[in-house]
Amino acid sequence: MDDGKSTLIGRLLHDSKNIYEDHLASLATDSRNAGRDKIDFAMLTDGLKSEREQGITIDVAYRHFSTPKRRFIIADTPGHEQYTRNMVSGASTANLAIILIDARNGVLTQSRRHGFIASLLGIPHLVVAINKMDLVDYSEDVFKSISDEYREFSAKLPTRDVIFIPMSAFYGDNVVMRSDKMPWYDGPPLLSHLESVHIASDQNLIDFRLPVQYVLRPNQDFRGFAGTVASGVVRVGNEVVALPSGRISRVQRIIAAGEDVEHAFPPQSVTLCLDDEIDISRGDMITHPANVPWLAGDIEALIIWMDTRPLQINRQYIIKHTTRTVRGRISEIKYKIDPNTLHRQDADSLQLNEIGRINAQLMRPILCDEYANNRQTGSFIIIDPQTNFTAGAGMVIDRSHKYERATPQYLSSQKSAASNLTRHTGHVSIEERERLFGHSPVTVWLTGLSGSGKSTLAYAVEKKLTEKGHACFVLDGDNVRHGLNRDLGFSAEDRFENIRRVAEIAKLMNESGLIVIASFISPLKTDRANAREIIGQGRFVEVFVDASVELCEQRDPKGLYARARKGEIPDFTGISAPYDPPESPAVRIDSGKSTVAQGVKSILAHLRQMRVLS
Ligand code: ADX
Repeated sequence: MDDGKSTLIGRLLHDSKNIYEDHLASLATDSRNAGRDKIDFAMLTDGLKSEREQGITIDVAYRHFSTPKRRFIIADTPGHEQYTRNMVSGASTANLAIILIDARNGVLTQSRRHGFIASLLGIPHLVVAINKMDLVDYSEDVFKSISDEYREFSAKLPTRDVIFIPMSAFYGDNVVMRSDKMPWYDGPPLLSHLESVHIASDQNLIDFRLPVQYVLRPNQDFRGFAGTVASGVVRVGNEVVALPSGRISRVQRIIAAGEDVEHAFPPQSVTLCLDDEIDISRGDMITHPANVPWLAGDIEALIIWMDTRPLQINRQYIIKHTTRTVRGRISEIKYKIDPNTLHRQDADSLQLNEIGRINAQLMRPILCDEYANNRQTGSFIIIDPQTNFTAGAGMVIDRSHKYERATPQYLSSQKSAASNLTRHTGHVSIEERERLFGHSPVTVWLTGLSGSGKSTLAYAVEKKLTEKGHACFVLDGDNVRHGLNRDLGFSAEDRFENIRRVAEIAKLMNESGLIVIASFISPLKTDRANAREIIGQGRFVEVFVDASVELCEQRDPKGLYARARKGEIPDFTGISAPYDPPESPAVRIDSGKSTVAQGVKSILAHLRQMRVLS
């Protein structure tokens, strides 16, 4: 921005004869009307710029153009810091990045940030365009000092191919035509470089990976696995392995764009038919048996945070990796990186546009490679389960060589470890237990702030149900934390574990036939969703004991709010730790308005309505 990006793009399109005559005529009129003596190519892309200034669509504009040698797509990405996430979407598939530097200003922190992000995203080629040379008298010294300074910085980046071109986009020097104003420069103009830069080996053509997107079975005789070749080459007759099952077969047919082909390569969309009937589903991956990805459940990655809601450690997110979607949480932020200086800083969260190195724990492992080797299978996105927004983008790294390759041997060792465990089923069915107890077992899950009245209500419900002849039991935060969960505190991670264990216990108690009344702050929606998943959708009855922080603080039955205000209790829910209220609880009790007896009544009424109680 302001460094002449629009002018450069306009100049590139014009001088390479990619602008239609009529468009050019109107551009000339616009420029004249604006009082310019030459055509102002920035006006070509200004439509977008004004949208951006108003903040309507802040997105990436793609422009197509071609020369007799190559076809190009320009991803026009805004350069300001607040648009880092747009840079990411524009840059993730690019072959080459052009970083513009205004010759009058020299290397700015943003020039370094752009280089860092481009190399982080694995863009193999970098052109540093030192623009507005006309405003520094086409001085070789200025060019040299800027390129020397930037070269010193870029030497620290993994990108190897970095070249410097002095230009004036406004006058067209060294954009498409060689400039006669800078005889001291003996490199190519920008377009010649773009036309000749060696990109054939940018693609990973070695490690064959086909993430399966669909299983096609139009009739009994045909079964194919469709997806986009992420990397490598596959040929008819090749031996392949299906992951994570580890089953081996051979490629019988490859169909691309409706026709049989002998081989396929990225980014072709293909359907593979195999010799054997093996079980493969969406999210699985087909590779060569001697060259397999990692199977990793704990991953280390660099991530760029793209959401206005900051990254929350241990909160559950959805991780989308190739065609597989898993749940997971970021368990640790090792550090964040200041992209302007490359310095590392401690962090316990990442804000919008921040970049950090993290560890993530996934509920199910993914089949991945290191991003540096494979931009497709090495990248993932992080989705916020509440908003469904893309919250971040990640790149897998492996500095400690800790991952296991998904070799058939490794997979079968994994399987036999799991197969040493078996599930036993008894001789008493749930129906028998229901007849015995006279109810269907459920877990009434009370959530709310400390002091909202959960426990009082829980014990009152227990009393009432017992009087009516139902076998039930209260699980209460304060009690459980004296025994089973005495090792847990109040960090987000410990609370997650607290709720997980309690949910497992509640599940067992339900299976034994008992009604459970669980009374836990359980402040995070994702933790409660996890409990619901463990206990089972039909057995989890969420009750929101709703009382404002002000009210709870006024009551303060245990004196904890007063101590939390003094800073004596860290991470205190409502004061220094978050509480996500349930959006659609089965029952909501306004504990400021209704009496305990009324609360008990609404819970029992709901249980009767669910036909849990007769
Ligand atoms: S939860 O967040 O993990 O669900 P839980 O319901 O088990 O919490 O325990 C909450 C009880 O622990 C509160 O009623 C209070 O007595 C006590 N407590 C101690 N420290 C904290 C804290 N930092 N935040 C909330 N409750 C706390």
